[in-house]
Amino acid sequence: MKIILGVGGGIAAYKSAEIARLLMQEGHAVQAVMTRAAQEFISPLTFAALTGRKTLTDLFAIESAIEHISVAQENELMAIAPATADLIARLAHGLADDFLTTLYLAFTGPVVVAPSMNSNMWRHAATQANLETLRRRGHRIVEPDSGYLACGMTGPGRLADPGAIVEAIERESRRGRDLDGETVLITAGPTQEPLDPVRYISNRSSGKMGYALAEAAAARGARVILISGPVHLAPPRGVEVISVRTAAEMREKVLENLAPAGIVVKAAAVADFHLSKVPEQKVKKTAARMSLELDPTPDILAELGRKKGDRLLIGFAAETQNLHQEARRKLESKNCDMVVGNLVGGSETGFESDENEVVLALSTGELLSLPRAPKREIADRIFDEALKLRLALHAADGR
Ligand code: CTP
Repeated sequence: MKIILGVGGGIAAYKSAEIARLLMQEGHAVQAVMTRAAQEFISPLTFAALTGRKTLTDLFAIESAIEHISVAQENELMAIAPATADLIARLAHGLADDFLTTLYLAFTGPVVVAPSMNSNMWRHAATQANLETLRRRGHRIVEPDSGYLACGMTGPGRLADPGAIVEAIERESRRGRDLDGETVLITAGPTQEPLDPVRYISNRSSGKMGYALAEAAAARGARVILISGPVHLAPPRGVEVISVRTAAEMREKVLENLAPAGIVVKAAAVADFHLSKVPEQKVKKTAARMSLELDPTPDILAELGRKKGDRLLIGFAAETQNLHQEARRKLESKNCDMVVGNLVGGSETGFESDENEVVLALSTGELLSLPRAPKREIADRIFDEALKLRLALHAADGR
């Protein structure tokens, strides 16, 4: 594969030479691009010697004024290591004041960013907000390690191990556009079941996991139909969003859009009960106590399990205990191919968090644990495993 290796101006710039060497060893073609500050730490000649190609450095000292465009078009993946706080800010805000940042704007393929900086700079709200922008853009952030830093501090900020960065690059390159031509139907967020015109019952759910799945599938080339309960999230780029409120509306829209979908992911936290007959007027506080008699909502996932055909069906299980058993039970009772189980109730992962830690129960009997990671990364891992699972199921079927 043809890879751009962008090198920022940090003390870890020398480790980038090892990344270039490992990528070359894996058979990739590497085009090194250095910022001006990077050249204070390591010479362009080092990268030229390792990659067998001229290192690109300056926007105005190149053969053609539009070289950044041709370099962007020729290469398939862009990795930036080390990415300093300043470089991350420039990428996040689209500033294009040197060759690397101009190239970044002209580049349309997958981007891997490996930050390295002082711990306080890493923790700063500005840096974290910029990183979140890059994550939401679909870029892979290779989290820095914790340890002794050149500045004398100990904490997060040390460039991840070159081997780990190369692994992230390879994983990203494999993903590419592996959902090209697929239609993925995703549900997200809670549903709201009205009790009267002003009150409702609902489930805790921010919709972040479902939206991350939609972003990931779209980035991998899928047509994505996202059926969303009420959430406070911006619609992901390139995704068809259908807004619903109740479980009944969600069911209707899911069935309406099922035909073209090859993969269905039910990440929504559907309310299990509703009032069948909702009063037309606001209920007045006349009695000291009141009880509600609720009926079950339609179980959309179970219904899909009965009519899925050869679609891949992925359900979710948000549990407070017995995660593994519950994920497996739901896999079987709702005839899913995969159930993504996560523990909820704590604040670290789950509902409102940007991170998650999940187990995947597969219809092959396997149970995989995905360690804590940003929801966007978890979303990609779910699709990685879903595609592998589909291949395994087709091979077993002889399809
Ligand atoms: N689900 C659904 N329709 C419902 C309830 C749940 O489609 N009426 C789906 C959810 O989108 C999720 C999965 O079923 O993918 C599991 O939801 P959960 O509420 O955990 O499961 P329940 O069947 O309600 O199981 P329990 O209440 O026993 O935990």
